[in-house]
Amino acid sequence: MDISQAPVGVFDSGVGGISVLRELVKLMPNENYIYYGDSKNAPYGPKTVEEVRRLTVEHIDFLVERGAKAIVVACNTATSVAIKELRAAYEEILPVIGIEPALKPAVLSKQNARVLVMATPMTIREEKFHHLMQEYEAQAEIYPLACPGLPEFVEAGDLDGEDLKAYLSEKFAPYQGKVDAVVLGCTHYPFVRPVIQELLGSSVAVFDGGAGTARELRRRMRESGILNPSGEKGEISILNSRETAEEIALCEKLLFL
Ligand code: DGL
Repeated sequence: MDISQAPVGVFDSGVGGISVLRELVKLMPNENYIYYGDSKNAPYGPKTVEEVRRLTVEHIDFLVERGAKAIVVACNTATSVAIKELRAAYEEILPVIGIEPALKPAVLSKQNARVLVMATPMTIREEKFHHLMQEYEAQAEIYPLACPGLPEFVEAGDLDGEDLKAYLSEKFAPYQGKVDAVVLGCTHYPFVRPVIQELLGSSVAVFDGGAGTARELRRRMRESGILNPSGEKGEISILNSRETAEEIALCEKLLFL
């Protein structure tokens, strides 16, 4: 088979990476995609580094075995602990793209911006994020905010319920009126973006890394000469370790939100 026709493999701990898949499809609708969400083991945020690394490598191996021509690790948590191993294993054969909190555009959005970065406890604890913060801390005030429990709302399909609003209100209480921008540093969070925007107010700019990841994937596939030249709409196949019809229905709902 012509490699350009092969699917792009997209992985997340659950349904969150669909927020990235949406951006990939928006930018490259003619590509074929295979999405794998590990909802059975979600959330990854509270697990050990070793466990997240093992699960991530296992599922990326699966996507490569299914013939993926490029890999997108559509999970900030998995990227922070496994991207080095994945690049070492696969970079010579195919592009491997990770995602990290979109701190740069948030910092550059305003002089001396006060930026809230929401992410899983693991993303915030890991070295990768500390390096990212060091890069920008002279230009902005950066407040990391670990949000354990937030991906679970999205996994349950709750995108605007009262419990979710109460959870976020409590998290945001110390920052109300004190931030200019918020970074959604977990791929589950864009699905609750309207609630985040409503609670923080319309003057707060909201950033996520989905569109930037899509542009980076296109750049890398172009460089490798594996972009699909087809003018037709590509196919999207969605797999989930939960394997139930309800789970796939939730994934499809999120994809077409
Ligand atoms: N979607 C994942 C991320 O971007 C994490 C959610 C989880 O804890 O599993 O970090």
